[in-house]
Amino acid sequence: MYLTNDEERILSGQNGEVMERMFRLLVRLGEIYGADRMIPVSSVQVAGVSYKSIGDPGVEFLEDYASKGAKVKTVTFLNPSGMDIEDWQKLNVPAAFAEKQLRIMKAFREMGIVVSATCTPYLAGNLPRFREHIAWSESSAIAFSNSVIGARTNREGGPSALAAALCGVTPNYGLHLDENRKPQMLVEVDAKLEDSADFGALGYVVGKQVKNRIPYFTGIKDPDTDQLKALGAAMAASGAVALYHVDGMTPEAHLMQTEGLEKLSVSGKDLNETFTKLSTGKEPDIVILGCPHSSLKEIMTVARKVEGKKLKKPLWVCTSRMVKEAANRMGFTQTIEAAGGKVVADTCMVVAPIEDMGYKTTAVNSGKAANYLPGFCKQNVIFGRLDSILEKVTA
Ligand code: F3S
Repeated sequence: MYLTNDEERILSGQNGEVMERMFRLLVRLGEIYGADRMIPVSSVQVAGVSYKSIGDPGVEFLEDYASKGAKVKTVTFLNPSGMDIEDWQKLNVPAAFAEKQLRIMKAFREMGIVVSATCTPYLAGNLPRFREHIAWSESSAIAFSNSVIGARTNREGGPSALAAALCGVTPNYGLHLDENRKPQMLVEVDAKLEDSADFGALGYVVGKQVKNRIPYFTGIKDPDTDQLKALGAAMAASGAVALYHVDGMTPEAHLMQTEGLEKLSVSGKDLNETFTKLSTGKEPDIVILGCPHSSLKEIMTVARKVEGKKLKKPLWVCTSRMVKEAANRMGFTQTIEAAGGKVVADTCMVVAPIEDMGYKTTAVNSGKAANYLPGFCKQNVIFGRLDSILEKVTA
């Protein structure tokens, strides 16, 4: 792998221990995957933020790096943390958990990382352009940026994304290269897709079949941004899909050849079976929306649906701090709160310690959350379209 003189100097420790370790990690990755060189990245998103995921070793690691003066070289956002950084007390997050989470956020901030903790950085002030090289590490954000925006990122882990942020580069391999972005399976969809949950169910079914490959969809008509983020999130969760193309919709689709590809057909029956399969609970203790983090439009939709009603069970609408700020200004947050719900920033149903907060059954409209909640949060799940799950908790 070719390294510049400056990069050789980093590797020999001339820029300090932290830089040497981080750059060595990138070189190792590049060697494993056959990269020819490093390429600059203009945006990074770091996962591994919740205390629930990284525990005490993670806290100590980050504080050590921050105390040694590590600073990011490019705009870097964070994945959701374990709690709403401002409103955690109102949400009854255990104090011991909060203390550790706040230390994590402090260490990231000291490194120059924007402590906006969200899996939709592209809706919150970190929007790459088509063909821009980036290093993101949350799976739904990776799928969205590669597929819907046409930016280029591999599936970074938390450490490799942090290394890219501190060094400003990433090894040039995988999805950074044209030849690795071609579709490997043709998915013909013959189903009514109306709600984001339908796209989540579709993503779940396709991810299971495609597994780590790149699907090319036909039959998806006029999806909106929120539906595409739901599709990518569910596929990333069930099949590690990092890039997909949608005929006539996503920016690289028209460049792709689909002749001779293995075919998969998905029908409405497949989607209905998925809703049934992923729904393991009956009565929800809580409804949590916003996986991936809600857009302003999604929050507005929820606000309109619950306006003037009284919720029988808690409702969280998860989003980024920036979008919550806009929702506050528009009065959407206040409408949802008047009904008994909350707009929750910086966290989500999977990385928050909901299993320690008394919740056993969670209703969601996300294929990804429905897939993850049993394993990560010991939850029974109700997976359904927005209207149907709100109906369960609305008086
Ligand atoms: Fe985002 Fe959490 Fe879902 S990180 S994609 S809201 S599981």
